[in-house]
Amino acid sequence: MRKTYYAQRLSAAKLQAVYALAGPRVQRYLQAEIDRLAAMVAPGDRVLELGCGYGRVLAAVGGRRVGVDLAWESLKLGRATHSEVAFALMDAARMGFGDQSFDLVFGVQNFISVCQVSPADVLTEALRVVRPNGRIVLASYTASFWSHRLDWFRRQAEAGLIGAIDEEASRDGVIVGRDGFRATRFGRADFARLAATAGCRYRVYAVDASSLFCEVVAPHPNAVSEARCATVKRRRIADDFEKTR
Ligand SMILES: C[S@@+](CC[C@H](N)C(=O)[O-])C[C@H]1O[C@@H](n2cnc3c(N)ncnc32)[C@H](O)[C@@H]1O
Repeated sequence: MRKTYYAQRLSAAKLQAVYALAGPRVQRYLQAEIDRLAAMVAPGDRVLELGCGYGRVLAAVGGRRVGVDLAWESLKLGRATHSEVAFALMDAARMGFGDQSFDLVFGVQNFISVCQVSPADVLTEALRVVRPNGRIVLASYTASFWSHRLDWFRRQAEAGLIGAIDEEASRDGVIVGRDGFRATRFGRADFARLAATAGCRYRVYAVDASSLFCEVVAPHPNAVSEARCATVKRRRIADDFEKTR
C-alpha cells in the first residue's frame, strides 16, 4: 500500500489535533460540510467516505456507513471510537467493493486535492461503486476562504503538526510546506473538467461560502441506450405523423 503524507505524518491523534486547533471560522466551515452531507442521507442509506481519516465526518452523518483511507493509524483510531462506522484500508482509486454498493459516496475536506492519485480515477471508481442515480459529492474550498485556510495551516505548522509553511510559494489556493506538504484546491472550472471526463450530470455550489461542493449524479447504465430508444421512438412517431398527412 502506498505511503501518503497523511499516512506518514498526519494520522490518528495528530489529525485530531489539526481539527481541534481550528479557529471559529474554520470550525464553522467543517460543521457546514457535515450538516450539508447529513441532510442528503436518508435512514438506511449506504454511505461511503473517501479519505475518512478517523471518522470525524462519518460519525455525524447517519446511514449505514463505511470509510476508506490509506492511513492505518487513523483507521485504528476510528475503529476504537466509532463502532457505528466500518473502516477499511483502501485506496479511493481502487476499492474492493462490488459495483453499485452505495447510495452516496463523498470525499470532503478537500479530499480531491490531497488524494495523491488521479482525480479522474477517483471519480471513475466512485461511479462504479455508487448505484444508478446515486450521488457523489467531492468538496474543496471556495477561493474566498483562502485567508482562513492559510491561517489554519499556519497554526498547524506552529504546533509542529506539519512543516513550516513556505510563505512565498503558498498562494492562489496552493499551500506549500517546507517538508514537501502541498495542498491545492479544486475550483468550479476544475470540477467541470473532471465531471466532463465522465460525462455526468453535476452541479457545483458553495456551502457556507467556505466549501465548494461538486455533486455528481451517477448515470443509469442504460441511460445511453434509453436515450437512443427515445430518439428512435420520436422518429417513428414523426414518420407515422407524416404518413397520415
Ligand atoms: C484532510 S484528511 C481528511 C480526513 C477526514 N475526511 C476528515 O475530514 O476528518 C485527508 C485524508 O485522506 C486520506 N487519503 C489521501 N489519499 C488517499 C487515497 N488515495 N485513498 C484513500 N485515502 C486517502 C489521508 O490519509 C487522510 O486521512
